[in-house]
Formats: sequence, structure tokens, C-alpha cells
Amino acid sequence: MKKDSILFTPVTIGTMTVKNRFVRSATHDYLGHPDGSISDAEIELYKTLAQNEVGMIVTAHTYVQHPYGKAGVNQNAIYDDRYIEGYRRLAQEVQAFGCKLVVQISHAGRQTLPDCGFTPLAPSSVPEKGSNVIPKEMSEEEIERTIADFASAMIRVAKSGADGVQLHLAHGFLLSEFLSPYTNRRTDRWGGEVRSRLSIVAEIMRQAAKEGLGAGDFPVLVKMNATDGFDGPGYLSLGEVIEAAAFLKELGVAAIEVSGGHREAPLGAARRGITSPEKEAYFFGPARAIKEKVNIPVILTGGLRSRAVMEKVINEGRIDMVGMSRPFIQEPDLVVRFLNGQEKAACISCNGCYNPRGIRCSQIRTK
Ligand SMILES: Cc1cc2nc3c(=O)[nH]c(=O)nc-3n(C[C@H](O)[C@H](O)[C@H](O)COP(=O)(O)O)c2cc1C
Repeated sequence: MKKDSILFTPVTIGTMTVKNRFVRSATHDYLGHPDGSISDAEIELYKTLAQNEVGMIVTAHTYVQHPYGKAGVNQNAIYDDRYIEGYRRLAQEVQAFGCKLVVQISHAGRQTLPDCGFTPLAPSSVPEKGSNVIPKEMSEEEIERTIADFASAMIRVAKSGADGVQLHLAHGFLLSEFLSPYTNRRTDRWGGEVRSRLSIVAEIMRQAAKEGLGAGDFPVLVKMNATDGFDGPGYLSLGEVIEAAAFLKELGVAAIEVSGGHREAPLGAARRGITSPEKEAYFFGPARAIKEKVNIPVILTGGLRSRAVMEKVINEGRIDMVGMSRPFIQEPDLVVRFLNGQEKAACISCNGCYNPRGIRCSQIRTK
């Protein structure tokens, strides 16, 4: 592939210009220290991606609230100022290669680790079918505290010198639980119509601005579900997703990464068996619809594998950037491989890379 492909043209997200269209989508690597701080293994992983021409890296989701909100073992944390230093190091290491670092912040809500020792929090007490846990409906105070914790985390990310922050509003974690009518049955100001279901995000943005985060100077991105993966009344519809995207733009969000899936739905974010171009880019339809209605940069993630498909979604769908997770686990040098003529990622989407002892591609034989 020639470097004059659209994939190698820069793109601007708020005040940040990214050198090309390749995004390493957020990937929990299970390599953090048990206390949530960034490990040397993580620095090495991110550095390798940056050295190999990835334009923007979104970090693994890092949790904003302790003890609630943690999703997985060895997950990174950002609920305290002591975590700023690790992100500062990470940002410096990748920025040295002209790569941008965006830190994804999250609260796991009803998907909080089942063995955490307390009842997880959620907008409503809708039983979580994966763990059989009935979460606790959040009180007004718990919602206020969560807003404050997200805002403080955003300030910490800005202080670390990272290039942007991404709110995790996807995959059935807390903020997407508020957006989805399936998990948000509230009748107070935090439930109801789409805008009310997103009022927690509106308050987070307001609180962060009050504490000095200028969304205008510091890009705030969101990763959101185009679909939870359920059909029918009572579930999140594409019309609602588009309405939500428009509201997020009004709130000052600089870019939307479109993903989808939910732990309880038949199809998750990381679908298996992406073996032909037709199966790739499985959220392209809704992402294109969002882009048509809400003219801010859109990152499409989910099953992108071939260079030609990536060029197509940008050229025909006006998608701005392509995000990948699993392909970069197997081939962290994938962007350079494309430059050298490789047409397609080697990833077979088997999901063998999920490994609580540290992500690694199960297709690669190690000695
Ligand atoms: C091991 C692993 C960890 C992941 N961790 C996160 C995460 O922390 N935050 C997130 O938003 N998505 C996470 N995802 C989902 C990916 O970002 C992406 O949306 C999904 O894998 C589809 O993209 P792909 O087909 O390029 O893998 C993870 C995926 C994998 C495979």
C-alpha cells in the first residue's frame, strides 16, 4: 500500500491532529499491577504500537471509582492522583513516536467483578444474567459521587499530559447502562427520554468543565454502542443512538467511536469468525447513519481486517478513523505491514487473546 492512501492522511479531533487514520481501540491487557498502576509490560506494549505507526492509541479502560467500578483483574485505575504518574510515562513514551494517547475511563456498573465482595451498582436493579447478580439501584448520592469521580478522572488524564480522554459509554458498562432502556428503568431525572438517560454524562462534562477541563482545548471522546445487540421494544434503538450522538455533540464531545454489544446479548463487541470482507466492519451501517446526522469525527471499530475495507468505509461512509483491537494483539506492527504491501490482518477473530494473565494471541506459538 502506498503512503498516499487515505489511511495515511491526517485527521483532526478537536484540538488534536492525528497523523493517520489507525486507532488501537481500547484493550484491557490484564498487565497492570494489582493495585491498578501502569506496569513496565504495558509501557512496552504501547511503545511497540507507537513505534509501528499507529496514529492514536486508546488505553485499556481504567476505573474511576474504588472499590466500585472495577471490571477485571489487573485492570488499570485512575481513581486517585497517585495514578497520574503512570499515565504521564505512558503518554511520553508513545508521543515520542508521533502517536497520540487517549485514556479510556470507565465504571463497570452491574458488570463489576463478581467476586468484588459487594453488590455492584447500576441505574436500576435489573438482574445481570452473566453473573446472576442483582445490582443495587444507585441512590442520588451514589450518582453524584460517580459524576464527581468521572470528572476528577478526566482532570487527572489532562494533568498526565495525555492527548485526550474517552468516556466508556459502550458494552454494558455503567454509562451505557444509563443510556440503555433495558438497564435504566428509572423514573427520576436520570431515566426516561434519551437526553435524561444521558444526563449523567451531561453532568460529568459540566463538572469537569467547572474543575477546569476545557473540552474545547482537551478533546473528550466517547465510545458508544450502535446497538446493544438486542432487538425489539424496550431495547436501545438506532434512532435513540443517533439522538444520543447528537446530544453528545451538543455537550462538546469531540469524536465518537462506534462499537456495540453487551455481555448478555448474543453478539458482543468482539465477534468471532471474521473471515471474509463481507463479515468485516460489522457496525458500519449504524456508524454511517450517525456520521450523516452528527458531523463530528467518527471512529469505526469492530471486525476491521482488510486494507480495502478500511479505505471503503472512509471513502464511501465518510468514517474518519478505523479502530482495531484484536489485530494489533497478533500484529502490533500491522500498520507497517500494510505499508509494505500486506492486504489483510492475520487475526482470525477467535478471541483466544482474552487472557487474565496478560493478553496474547493464542495463534502465535511461543517457544
Ligand atoms: C482482550 C480485549 C480487551 C478489550 N478491552 C476493552 C476495553 O478495555 N475497553 C473497550 O472499550 N473495549 C475493549 N475491548 C473491545 C475492543 O476495543 C473492540 O471494540 C472489539 O474487540 C472489536 O474490535 P476488533 O474486531 O478490532 O477486535 C477489548 C477487546 C479485547 C479483545
